[in-house]
Amino acid sequence: KTELKDFLHINDFDKDTILRLLDRAIDVKALIKSGDRSFQPFKGKTMAMIFAKPSMRTRVSFETGFTLLGGHAIYLGPDDIQMGKREETRDVARVLCRYNDLLMARVFAHQDILDLAKYATVPVINGLTDYNHPCQIMADALTMIEHIGRLEGTKVVYVGDGNNIVHSWLLLAAVVPFHFVCACPKGFEPDEKTVEKARQAGISKIEITNDPKEAVIGADVVYSDVWASMGQKEEAAYRRQVFKGFQVDKSLMDIAGSKAFFMHCLPAERGVEVTDEVIEAPNSIVFQQAENRLHAQNAVMLHVLGK
Ligand code: CP
Ligand code: NVA
Repeated sequence: KTELKDFLHINDFDKDTILRLLDRAIDVKALIKSGDRSFQPFKGKTMAMIFAKPSMRTRVSFETGFTLLGGHAIYLGPDDIQMGKREETRDVARVLCRYNDLLMARVFAHQDILDLAKYATVPVINGLTDYNHPCQIMADALTMIEHIGRLEGTKVVYVGDGNNIVHSWLLLAAVVPFHFVCACPKGFEPDEKTVEKARQAGISKIEITNDPKEAVIGADVVYSDVWASMGQKEEAAYRRQVFKGFQVDKSLMDIAGSKAFFMHCLPAERGVEVTDEVIEAPNSIVFQQAENRLHAQNAVMLHVLGK
């Protein structure tokens, strides 16, 4: 088993690999969009997709991407495996890798994805954990390259909960230089060790603040996500109180300035973390982001399968 078998954290790849994968994503995207279906690198290959949580984008983009490139993907929903309940994670890993060339998983505890990768002899791709969401940030980086022309040197301001999305942004900032700001309510800051890791890498400017208005000035991207993530939905009402003042609305986008794009990983709760006006505005690129899940992940799958 080689060191680089899996894609569990965005900084599992170095800067050159990330930028190369994003270039590859652009090429394969153009091919797929042209209608050309002659590129079938996954022919004869199968992928098992484990979902302990709900999903639309992750499930459909992985299944579609793997299929378009010649392979067959198998969806396993929360009730199919009941990982950790009906069967131990390490047993799931050791069985599925005997049937499949690739595993993709969306789980609760981050330790579960680490265990899957440890016990599987085939590559494992992280489709979101409570801790991070690397495939999302690869798609976001691709979208920024398409719309801004670059990733390096940009200012990305995330407004909301210091959650799994923020951890992946921080880990990206540990390998690619840009300015990352997380504006969140007190007590909802991202994981301290991850912030430290990003800062210690010493290549990006990292700011954690409780003032969204100050934070967004000069942003290239204002980024938002739900205030209550999957697994926290019972806290939704409480969080709506605490996060008041962290809604991305027109006045915040006006402070950000005319060059700022609005991004959101989706699903979005309109009228909560973002207004309908902002998400529907011409500078909102949320659907381009969603589309790029497909293309960024294709590049990741090609890479981990050595294609
Ligand atoms: N952004 C994202 O991961 O969406 P899903 O939860 O629908 O997969
Ligand atoms: N932070 C969100 C992201 C959804 C794609 C969640 O974990 O529910």
